[in-house]
Amino acid sequence: MAAIKAVSSLLSSLIVFFLLLLPHACIDAQSLKVCKFDGIYQLGDSVSDTGNLIREKPALPFARLPYGQTFFKKPTGRCSNGLLIIDYIAQATGIPLLDPSLDKDALFTRGRGENFAVAGSTALSAEVLAQKNISPPLTNSSLSVQLDWMLTHFNGICFNAKDCAEKLKTALFIVGEIGGHDFEYALFQGKSIEEVTHLVPKVVQAIKDAVTKVISNGGARVVVPGLFPIGCLPIYLTGFHANNSADYDESHCLKRLNTLAIYHNDQLKRAIEVLRKENPGVVIVYGDYYNAFQWVFSHAPRLGDYLFSKDRMCGNPGVPVCANPDERISWDGVHMTSKANQHIANRLIQDILPTLNCKA
Ligand SMILES: *[C@@H]1O[C@H](CO)[C@@H](O)[C@H](O)[C@H]1NC(C)=O
Ligand SMILES: *[C@@H]1O[C@H](CO)[C@@H](O)[C@H](O)[C@H]1NC(C)=O
Repeated sequence: MAAIKAVSSLLSSLIVFFLLLLPHACIDAQSLKVCKFDGIYQLGDSVSDTGNLIREKPALPFARLPYGQTFFKKPTGRCSNGLLIIDYIAQATGIPLLDPSLDKDALFTRGRGENFAVAGSTALSAEVLAQKNISPPLTNSSLSVQLDWMLTHFNGICFNAKDCAEKLKTALFIVGEIGGHDFEYALFQGKSIEEVTHLVPKVVQAIKDAVTKVISNGGARVVVPGLFPIGCLPIYLTGFHANNSADYDESHCLKRLNTLAIYHNDQLKRAIEVLRKENPGVVIVYGDYYNAFQWVFSHAPRLGDYLFSKDRMCGNPGVPVCANPDERISWDGVHMTSKANQHIANRLIQDILPTLNCKA
């Protein structure tokens, strides 16, 4: 009992991570401007969705305050209190925040990119997942569906393939983060970690196929983000709460889930190596979300109360607003706060800039 108490008190100190003492990120977030990107095209899930899922499912909590309370002062469909990593990347690039592709009124920023990401979406199609008895609960707009939207969009703005290649060579493409939900749904729908590990090559192949399609349609600079350390996220810490302290690493994250994320990320990095050989003229960069998150995590020295439980996410009826989101990493147990996203984005930009190889 004492051991259980100790573990759960460790856990309780974990979830709300204070960022107050986080040193200022030592980079100029404007530095992406040297790349002179004139548009950004984003595919992915809730990490990047700027309003697509709520147009499919308007009743979701992300369509209500307190989602969006910071910066926007209204819900936008972003799964955060404020801005997402992609928003900080857009700002650092000097491009307006990306409109969600399903917002048919948002013609204003067209031509400077578009966001096809859908919260809750998977790398594998709903049909492929169904064969494995996994069902995506929120949306069927998987990576291949988003790609179709993107290609339809390009058909609308390009005269032909050559024109598209010309128009898109100065754009930034971001394919992911995606795949996290494939594993999440499988795990929460009763699959073992071993079974889920067998999904990794298929998920990575789906991402590789998507990147290939982006490139064959004119994409010349592509960032492919990996997974976060999912064993550190409150939703998993709650759902897979273990009694044995050996199941946790020194940061009190679930080891086997982080091992799964690392395995996926290693496979993804190998796929990127292959893609580079297959497409010598194209810049393809791994987006190290895992280590960017770990950096923020390890620099958030002050710990607070553990307020998260799966059915008490901020934004659900009867749940109070999370106080002081600027001092926390986790906004709702699944998604990061605006502040955490900012730190992760800064870290990421610093990391990808040399590989993007932009000439000043
Ligand atoms: C996904 O598609 C299946 C089969 O068409 C359907 O039964 C299910 O309701 C859809 N799921 C969502 C979340 O829209
Ligand atoms: C942890 O212990 C509780 C109470 O003994 C038990 O119900 C639960 O199944 C255990 N959890 C795991 C993951 O072993």
